[in-house]
Amino acid sequence: MAEVVVVESEARAGELAAGSILDLIAAKPDAVLGLATGSTPLPVYRALAEGVRSRGIDVSSLRGFALDEYVGLPAGHPESYRSVIAREVVQPLGLDPHRIHVPNGALETISDAGEQYELAIERAGGVDVQILGIGTDGHIGFNEPGSSFASATRVKTLTAQTRRDNARFFDSPDDVPMHCITQGLGTILRARHLLLLAFGGGKADAVASAVEGPISASSPGTAIQLHPHATVIVDEAAAGRLQNLDYYRYAWNNKPRWQGL
Ligand code: GLP
Repeated sequence: MAEVVVVESEARAGELAAGSILDLIAAKPDAVLGLATGSTPLPVYRALAEGVRSRGIDVSSLRGFALDEYVGLPAGHPESYRSVIAREVVQPLGLDPHRIHVPNGALETISDAGEQYELAIERAGGVDVQILGIGTDGHIGFNEPGSSFASATRVKTLTAQTRRDNARFFDSPDDVPMHCITQGLGTILRARHLLLLAFGGGKADAVASAVEGPISASSPGTAIQLHPHATVIVDEAAAGRLQNLDYYRYAWNNKPRWQGL
């Protein structure tokens, strides 16, 4: 099962996740990070930037692959995930932009963009640690309910719920693209460590289903139950519907610290 860690704040979640990622980078300077967008990973990126500065870690060889991208946004659109990753990850951490990849959502080349992305991940030797958020409908990346657990990077149609959830980043709900290109659940499951974060009561059902629900393509987050090394970091509100919460706290409090996350 996934390890569940309940923390008192988003900032603490960020520090915990970043601490594990910084240890990885210190041991493997050209580590491959799987980068999520959305508001959830922001505390991780903030803590990473801070840790890189304070620990003087060299990130010049660090590599990264974003989870997903909208299809058909004009190049340079501020809400394209390419722009978001540049603004929230590449710049604050001082990464080499040439080593950070985002699926190509350009319409002209979309038919083989998924295959190209899978090849690039494979050539990089796979993702060492994949940062994940979760949508209110249980999606990870942009793998909407019904996505195959074996899926690779491909084009998907966003649900009405996801388009509504993401409308806050656009001028109007109709401006949210209908299609996306996302790493598949199969791609995500090949990463060596999954770090899923969730905050707030709005995510409580999605978290309970991902961690404890019956494994089903109807609930894409449940794919993490198939992964040998998955860590779920949540605040009290997002943990609110977990049945085995007492056990998760007990296991965390008694965990040998040398094991890390
Ligand atoms: C977006 C992203 C996901 C993200 C999710 C939750 O649609 N494609 O990768 O995990 O929705 O977003 P947030 O973290 O803003 O709640």
